[in-house]
Amino acid sequence: MLASIRCPQKAKADFASLWELWISISSPNPGAGKMFREKRYVLVCTNEREADHPKGSCTNCGSLEVRERMKLLLEEKNLKSRARILATSCMDVCENGAVVCVMPDNVWYGGVRPEDAEEIVEKHLVNGEPVERLLIPEEMSGLSLFG
Ligand code: FES
Repeated sequence: MLASIRCPQKAKADFASLWELWISISSPNPGAGKMFREKRYVLVCTNEREADHPKGSCTNCGSLEVRERMKLLLEEKNLKSRARILATSCMDVCENGAVVCVMPDNVWYGGVRPEDAEEIVEKHLVNGEPVERLLIPEEMSGLSLFG
């Protein structure tokens, strides 16, 4: 079972600022940075490796099913304007698969199963509260996305 340790507020703020900066310089829309504060982007690792690979992979832990379940839930609950589900490659915390990162909150979930999708959608995407029991411990979280 994963420990419930959240990222320090300063690290969260710094990461969110980097995210916003990246969005603003990579988008032709100058208002994009503001839009990203209002909408959440759920990054689901769908990296695939051979079943016997020592690092494992999120697809072997069911990330494709997690992603599909979350997409369906957003559609069913009419939440597509509030959040978007994106498939990513490896986010370098493979031992925690299946890995899901919610931006710009910089909240990292590990060991996510399809049956956890509804709780993440309801609790985090709708009510803004991270699902504590699925948080990746701070020292393992992927604050290295930009470094
Ligand atoms: S395979 Fe998912 S984080 Fe590396």
